[in-house]
Amino acid sequence: MNLLTLTDVWVRYGRVPAVQGLSMHVDEGQLVGLVGNNGAGKTTTLSTVTGVLRPSAGTIEFEGKEIAGQAPDRILRHGLSLVPENRRIFARLSVRENLQIGTSGRKDRAKAKEDIEEMLGRFPVLERYHDQPGANLSGGEQQQLAIARALLARPRLLLLDEPTLGLAPLIVDQVFDLLEQLKSEGVTILLVEQNAARTVSIADRVYIMRTGGRIEFEGTGDELAARGGLETAYIGF
Ligand SMILES: Nc1ncnc2c1ncn2[C@@H]1O[C@H](COP(=O)(O)OP(=O)(O)OP(=O)(O)O)[C@@H](O)[C@H]1O
Ligand SMILES: [Mg+2]
Repeated sequence: MNLLTLTDVWVRYGRVPAVQGLSMHVDEGQLVGLVGNNGAGKTTTLSTVTGVLRPSAGTIEFEGKEIAGQAPDRILRHGLSLVPENRRIFARLSVRENLQIGTSGRKDRAKAKEDIEEMLGRFPVLERYHDQPGANLSGGEQQQLAIARALLARPRLLLLDEPTLGLAPLIVDQVFDLLEQLKSEGVTILLVEQNAARTVSIADRVYIMRTGGRIEFEGTGDELAARGGLETAYIGF
């Protein structure tokens, strides 16, 4: 089933078009990659899906219902949770308080509390620093916190914007391992990444985006390989 469907979506910054006629979809239970060069329109796409930007044309459906133009908090309540570019954790709040914010939209308060404890068990480094300010964590640790916080909203769809940017290779491996693990647990994921090769290797399907939010390629890793792989894609098919 299509969980998220964008059809002919246009987004402008003032008069400048950033995304032009974008159509894409994410099926339930899948990990879909969205890769492309700097300035292609990836963050703009995520901002539009999460209600931060309003498309000037097109439809965005979540579980078959139109969500384009709704306020971000309303979209969050439909079950979309974003790990934003550059992580953006709350630096002065403790690790535990950051996690509590992740559960703030939930009504099942008792279960949410349990889930925080479970999340601390899942990420030992967060458990270790649970009462420390978020600012004290390293980049990789902050990324774990940002992902844990997003998961605590119990999203139907987890969106991540370049979660491995600026991280050391070993930590990049950990983040990709975590994403694979989440996928195996049935979390539906839309992953925006600069690390295209790694993304292709774990994704069910990938979109390669060019400047202007134009989709250059859409398909599985095997289909991409059959057309010459990423190297060809980046020169242009
Ligand atoms: N707030 C803004 N005002 C005007 N133009 C913007 C704004 N944000 C982004 N743009 C422009 O829109 C286009 C798409 O930017 P976007 O941030 O979506 O790209 P991206 O694919 O996420 O790039 P990166 O990989 O560098 O994060 C770029 O040309 C960018 O300069
Ligand atoms: Mg971006």
